[in-house]
Amino acid sequence: MIDLALRVRGIRKQYPKVLAVAGVDLEVRRGEVFGLLGPNGAGKTTTLEMIEGLTPADAGEIEILGLDWKHHGREIRSLIGVQLQSTSLFNKITPREALDLYGAYYPTRRSAQELLELVQLTDKADAYHTTLSGGQQQRLALALALVNDPELVFLDEPTTGLDPQARRSLWGVVRGMKAEGRTVILTTHYMEEAEALCDRLAIMDHGVILSEGSPTELIAQLGLPSIVELTFEGPAPDSVSFSAHLGLPVDARGERWEIPTADPKSALPAILGAAETCAVPFCQIHVRRATLEDVFLHRTGRSLRE
Ligand SMILES: Nc1ncnc2c1ncn2[C@@H]1O[C@H](COP(=O)(O)OP(=O)(O)OP(=O)(O)O)[C@@H](O)[C@H]1O
Ligand SMILES: [Mg+2]
Repeated sequence: MIDLALRVRGIRKQYPKVLAVAGVDLEVRRGEVFGLLGPNGAGKTTTLEMIEGLTPADAGEIEILGLDWKHHGREIRSLIGVQLQSTSLFNKITPREALDLYGAYYPTRRSAQELLELVQLTDKADAYHTTLSGGQQQRLALALALVNDPELVFLDEPTTGLDPQARRSLWGVVRGMKAEGRTVILTTHYMEEAEALCDRLAIMDHGVILSEGSPTELIAQLGLPSIVELTFEGPAPDSVSFSAHLGLPVDARGERWEIPTADPKSALPAILGAAETCAVPFCQIHVRRATLEDVFLHRTGRSLRE
């Protein structure tokens, strides 16, 4: 039997105007980093909030480390760490004070000094919260989620709004959590983040899970390992007649056309031939491997960032 950190069956949440979560099943194994990937409004935060016990589910079952909220609320609270999508702290609190304050709620706690070192904030330990950069504030939020030494950590968009360097430094902290044996469940709309961090992930849209697996499995399920891209100088022209001529679907996206294919070796000459015949004014052509972004596009017809 697989040792599960989380088992969720059929959870639902209806808000007055929207069915935010429309029946979600999830299984997360102990020790893995699991991602919920989806665009704005997909229902990621609502799903997490139900699991974290912050908002009641209308239906369904939630089991956390073998425990349920109804009978073991206090125990669950001591075993999980939660970083909310936005953490609001007093402007004039310092990282050290915030860690001491949050830690005081728990019987077992890690020292502020240890946590500050973990998220590399020792030099900002006594600075006002308002004077921290976005990345430093996010790192503090991660440290706060670890204050009770939790087995299972929930991170809701830990890197949104950060520059690439700050994002990578946060990835290091998440990998450190896994190395310490914790289970991490995070949400993100960055597919490269999901690919880099998650052992397994679920792609979510409109309150339902569309597919689930490791990044490699999800990409393999697509059955289209390669994407041929034609790039234009400026917005890509309409692709309908080219696509008809070529006999393959062509997605026009911004300044490029994308042509998914299982067989780039024969697709490439055909594409070049059709481009010549149709006098397509492209400036570059290249072949890349499919990514989670392509999986999402294929499942929903939309890009993650639209
Ligand atoms: N408290 C609420 N009251 C009413 N509707 C809500 C509430 N919270 C969320 N919703 C709606 O439920 C849907 C799912 O929202 P949710 O915050 O779970 O999405 P999300 O995937 O976390 O999005 P984002 O990537 O923007 O954080 C949205 O349509 C949202 O408007
Ligand atoms: Mg959210």
